[in-house]
Amino acid sequence: MPKHLPVLLLACLPLLAVAQDDPVERLLAQMTLEEKIGQLSQLTIQSTPTGPVIDQGEHTQMPVTLLGSVLGADTAQQTRQLQEQVVNGSRLHIPLLFAYDVLHGFRTVFPVPLALASAWDPDLAQRTARAAAVEATASGVHWTFAPMVDIARDPRWGRVVEGAGEDPFLGSALATALVHGFQGAGAPDVSSMLATAKHFVAYGAAEGGRDYNVADLSERTLREVYLPPFEAAVAAGVGAIMPSFNEVAAVPMHSHTKLLTALLREQWGFAGLLVSDFNAVWELAQQGIASTQADAARLAFNAGVDIEMASQSYRQHLATLVRKGQVSRKNVDDAVRRVLKAKQRLGLFDDPYRYSDEARERASQLTPQHRALAREAAQKSIVLLKNDSALLPLSKQPGKVLVVGSLASDASATIGPWSGAANPEDSVTVLQGIRNAVAPGTEIVYLPGASPTSPATPNITQVEQTARSSDVLIAVLGETAEQSGEAHSRAELGLPGGQAALLHTLLNTGKPLVILLMNGRPLVLDASVQQAPALLETWFLGSETGNAVADVLFGDINPSGKLPMTFPRHVGQIPIYYAHKNTGRPPSGDGSFASAYIDVPWTPLYPFGFGLSYTSFSYSSPRLSTTRLASTQTLEVEVTVTNTGKRAGDEIVQLYLRDDVASVTRPVRRLRGFRKIHLAPGESRSVSFFLSQQDFALLDEHFSPKVEAGGFTVFVGPDSTTANQAHFEVSDTRRLSDDQVDRR
Ligand code: BGC
Repeated sequence: MPKHLPVLLLACLPLLAVAQDDPVERLLAQMTLEEKIGQLSQLTIQSTPTGPVIDQGEHTQMPVTLLGSVLGADTAQQTRQLQEQVVNGSRLHIPLLFAYDVLHGFRTVFPVPLALASAWDPDLAQRTARAAAVEATASGVHWTFAPMVDIARDPRWGRVVEGAGEDPFLGSALATALVHGFQGAGAPDVSSMLATAKHFVAYGAAEGGRDYNVADLSERTLREVYLPPFEAAVAAGVGAIMPSFNEVAAVPMHSHTKLLTALLREQWGFAGLLVSDFNAVWELAQQGIASTQADAARLAFNAGVDIEMASQSYRQHLATLVRKGQVSRKNVDDAVRRVLKAKQRLGLFDDPYRYSDEARERASQLTPQHRALAREAAQKSIVLLKNDSALLPLSKQPGKVLVVGSLASDASATIGPWSGAANPEDSVTVLQGIRNAVAPGTEIVYLPGASPTSPATPNITQVEQTARSSDVLIAVLGETAEQSGEAHSRAELGLPGGQAALLHTLLNTGKPLVILLMNGRPLVLDASVQQAPALLETWFLGSETGNAVADVLFGDINPSGKLPMTFPRHVGQIPIYYAHKNTGRPPSGDGSFASAYIDVPWTPLYPFGFGLSYTSFSYSSPRLSTTRLASTQTLEVEVTVTNTGKRAGDEIVQLYLRDDVASVTRPVRRLRGFRKIHLAPGESRSVSFFLSQQDFALLDEHFSPKVEAGGFTVFVGPDSTTANQAHFEVSDTRRLSDDQVDRR
């Protein structure tokens, strides 16, 4: 052995030289343990009259300059000032990373993610994320805590508003698009920012829809439903991942070694940053698996969490844990290396201030181009749920119009939760949008009538009288921005506050009534809402809300959105989603002794994928390139879609697949393709989808990927209930390797 030593040393020399040349390795070699741990800590800032200061928390003894990243700074001036403080005040001059929750815009606000998912348009999603990144990076923000890629099948959970809804295939497509949009071309582009896929994982499975609650789900559901969008984000090169607050089957995600290290790092090869959620390391004690903060730090770090956000267990205890041998020095070095490499990739070692650019900030935020994109995205996110007797679109000379509902003039509702650094005053309300759109001289009367936050119905008699003398009523009903989002779960999903009473009054007048829904989740739209002839789901659409709503109301734009989440008839149906299993007693026929309810239909009010248009479309039967194929072959599925109405319009063509008989039970159908097409009146277009082993595959009872011989049914149509189908067979059974599987 010893005689080989010099040879080995010689062989290592080039590597040593590379390490010496690499600024990251050079820094690592110089850093003290405390300096390293500083890089693994993230604190939030507070604004004070004298400028921003870092909240050091109650117990820390470590100086502010020993810090790797800061959450919440949002102007070029503020980020520059903090950067100067840390770069000049620290021994090794390591710049900070500035993080922020840029979910659906920064100063210009785009539709909330659930709304944007209704556009079924990954390219559009990518463009909005790009624009948000351009704005945020100019203010010095390097890192966004987005996209939120949690699948959500329980609308009681307030955070459904932050994600793409119930389906892993649509969710994965949007996760990929958003990661690409935020991260852009990558360094040296100064508008490229680090994206974070969050919250890993099964946060959307919180029991009872109660935020932060435990998730207790099968390994299959985890793998088939909740993990795929994260895997897509990793494949798209996402820079960071944030574990979720919840536990999965008794193991809190912030100490879940199997999922954070074995799956994410080792199996998926994720090399980016793992950043804790806010205080979540410290919360391991509340969850009952750590008795001290030191314990919490040890558990989280050893499970794989690189950076602790907000709570300061790492700053307090990691050094001692290393010295006691309870945390490995090598693992600390690896985590610090990941942080330094992220800084290096963003170009911060060349110029720590390159992102904080006041001139760029002035030139790039709320630009006409970004507002135009916000309007386009908002138009495409609107879903027409009902339009009896073609009440919509309205004429631009509609006679006297009564607009009611406090949300109509509520600018902060337009921007929804997690609205970045936006100012509600920069938003166009629904009322302003309607006023902008109608012909001069049109009489628009606005009376709030009711709000979602109070049972009162102010001036209800005046509302009724004005309604009776009006030609059309527009009621803006739903939720305020604060009624959905984090920690805003609801047990009842009807119209809150005095809105139901207001609606009752309006319906009694018998006047034509359009309901514009503003909300961050599927609502339960009861019989009175369904009495209205026209219903538009407008979610929270962002800075251009009012203009986009008016574009659709008055017919300049034909609505094309489709629901990314099922709308239940009743809270008691939750969870309700289209990709359910059949059971041994599927609900059909008269429903007796079937998997149904005796008091409410088992079907949803509006299914996943549903949305109407001002025109109509017809579908041909699906044409298959073959009805029997080998597992290695590709199947082409083609349909012809025709615009059978009188207006041009966009249709989102959806393809679903069912594995008819398999070794494990399969969902009744799964989305496997979608395409948005534009058709002039009378125009027909053929649309092709290609299905292959990735679509046919399942995880067998041992979770090994496999295509099984047998029959499949493919459905192509306008929503998840389409019966437009064809049948084919795969002739052979074949195991797939992990990298042959697309788990969306
Ligand atoms: C949320 C995260 C968010 C973080 C920082 C937490 O409460 O769960 O989604 O990124 O705060 O604002």
